[in-house]
Amino acid sequence: MRIANRNRVLVTGGAGFIGSHLCQKLLADGNDILCVDNFYCGVKDNLAGVAQDPHFELMRHDVTFPLYVEVDEIYNLACPASPVHYQSNPVQTTKTSVHGAINMLGLAKRTKARILQASTSEVYGDPEIHPQPESYWGHVNPIGVRSCYDEGKRCAETLFFDYHRQHGVEIKVVRIFNTYGPRMHPNDGRVVSNFIVQALNGEDITIYGDGSQTRSFCYVDDLVDGIVKMMASPAALIGPLNMGNPAEMSIRDLAEKILALCGGRSKLVFKPLPRDDPKQRRPDIAQARDRLGWQPRVGLEDGLGETIAYFKRQMAA
Ligand SMILES: NC(=O)c1ccc[n+]([C@@H]2O[C@H](COP(=O)([O-])OP(=O)(O)OC[C@H]3O[C@@H](n4cnc5c(N)ncnc54)[C@H](O)[C@@H]3O)[C@@H](O)[C@H]2O)c1
Repeated sequence: MRIANRNRVLVTGGAGFIGSHLCQKLLADGNDILCVDNFYCGVKDNLAGVAQDPHFELMRHDVTFPLYVEVDEIYNLACPASPVHYQSNPVQTTKTSVHGAINMLGLAKRTKARILQASTSEVYGDPEIHPQPESYWGHVNPIGVRSCYDEGKRCAETLFFDYHRQHGVEIKVVRIFNTYGPRMHPNDGRVVSNFIVQALNGEDITIYGDGSQTRSFCYVDDLVDGIVKMMASPAALIGPLNMGNPAEMSIRDLAEKILALCGGRSKLVFKPLPRDDPKQRRPDIAQARDRLGWQPRVGLEDGLGETIAYFKRQMAA
């Protein structure tokens, strides 16, 4: 029996970078939050701003095991997102995506909760068409070092659509492109945090390849607005829907911009490109714009400014 009339929202992976911002936004919107995390790469510090809120609850739990709780909505974010983390235990990465999806979809089926999957642009692999629309099936190596993440996420999408078709579960699938902002891990090899930490420490800035490969970077507040909007959208809008910032730039330009914003005298140094690294990446967000009325608003300089300020505070602490 429900006593309170607040929405009971489960966020898996809620102690991570995006999950912690999502918990904060959902609490501010008046929801009751159950945050579930196994702390594989998330940290409690990310939740310092919400931990004391009476409408926030934190549970240590691994989504590869079943979870029995009563909820109205589920945001399934649990999965290490950076190559350093997801490649350090690749079998667990696939299990988290696949068993995690099965367990969370089972929970959604039993509780009749609506469930959103944090999928990824990595389902497109090293894309042969550019920018990538949702209709593109991708170009993914099934046996490489990135496959535990890419194929795990692809299988999770399959499970979401089959639970929808077979069991009528209300699903939402969002394909997230590179997102950055405060609370990124300082040492997980993601390009924005890497460059900022190196620049602030006065170290050389490491570019893999010649830096001509491109990426598009979405500020975390924009992304969180988008996924909350997607959850609230009509049931017929199930996705997959690309979410990211279509402003594309080369990795070399990004390094130079971060260097200019951080100041200091770091040099750019070039190292060999890792295997299966995509050469270009830019979301086609026409569907999110047309069907959801969503598009990113925060410009790169503003977003980088917030992120640099966060890392400066962390390094001073
Ligand atoms: N950040 C991005 O640019 C990006 C891009 C595409 C997709 N995504 C997806 O968004 C989600 C969140 O990404 P993030 O950047 O916040 O990553 P993150 O690594 O900061 O957070 C992931 C969280 O999931 C938790 N987790 C991992 N395995 C778990 C398990 N088995 N059970 C319970 N918790 C577990 C981790 O401890 C961590 O707190 C991920 O699913 C990721 O694949 C992120």
